[in-house]
Amino acid sequence: MRKKLLVGNWKMNGRRVMANELCAAIVNEMQNLKNIDVALCPPFILLDEARKMTAGSECMLGAQDLDMHDDGAYTGQVSAGMLKDAGCEWVIIGHSERRTLFGETNLTVGKKTKQALNRGLKPIVCVGETEDERKTGQETSIVQEQLQSVIDEIGIDSCKDITIAYEPVWAIGTGLTATPEEAQGMHSFIRKQLRSQHDETAKACRILYGGSMKQNNASSLLGCPDIDGGLIGGASLNADEFLGICRSA
Ligand code: 13P
Repeated sequence: MRKKLLVGNWKMNGRRVMANELCAAIVNEMQNLKNIDVALCPPFILLDEARKMTAGSECMLGAQDLDMHDDGAYTGQVSAGMLKDAGCEWVIIGHSERRTLFGETNLTVGKKTKQALNRGLKPIVCVGETEDERKTGQETSIVQEQLQSVIDEIGIDSCKDITIAYEPVWAIGTGLTATPEEAQGMHSFIRKQLRSQHDETAKACRILYGGSMKQNNASSLLGCPDIDGGLIGGASLNADEFLGICRSA
């Protein structure tokens, strides 16, 4: 049985006061959320604030990106070692915003995933098709290619140590959620791709859904057999909404 994992991706939002209040409200509820894993991914600059606020609780911390290199002359970048030092266990890799706005490719996503694993971080690797790709029936081939390039880089045996997030680009921040059938269909396709290469990995690997997940649609999505949790953007900035989603898991 895969334990559900709920991850808040704050994206480029928040100030210290907000981080403080949001973390305090979530930590306060953690004792009532015993059977799920919860992680928060604030912007780099708020990690320390979030670490202080979540210290001693079951609430875990993650980052939204990392550099593929070890420490060195890479101005503006943040290394895996720095993230570990800041208290991160998790790191989101290859979010569609990073792919479309910052030029990340399947190749860089694979390399960052390998770097995270080598340095002891747990990668949450994002995949997902655009609206045009779905309209033209390419959604499975796009997702297959995104996932396969990561498998090729890290090897199928290491895939048991990654979490995959299926985030259809057309559902991110739009209020348009994939139906449970659409999401389950893609999650099952992803798991089949893993199973065809390694059965145990397919059983162990958690596949999260992301894209306008809210309190009012979470339970139908999280009730699907291959949906093992959520990667939550907008709704993770509001403690009541985020906790509502966590409770429905
Ligand atoms: P929204 O929940 O705001 O649609 O964002 C989803 C997402 O991109 C999480 O990484």
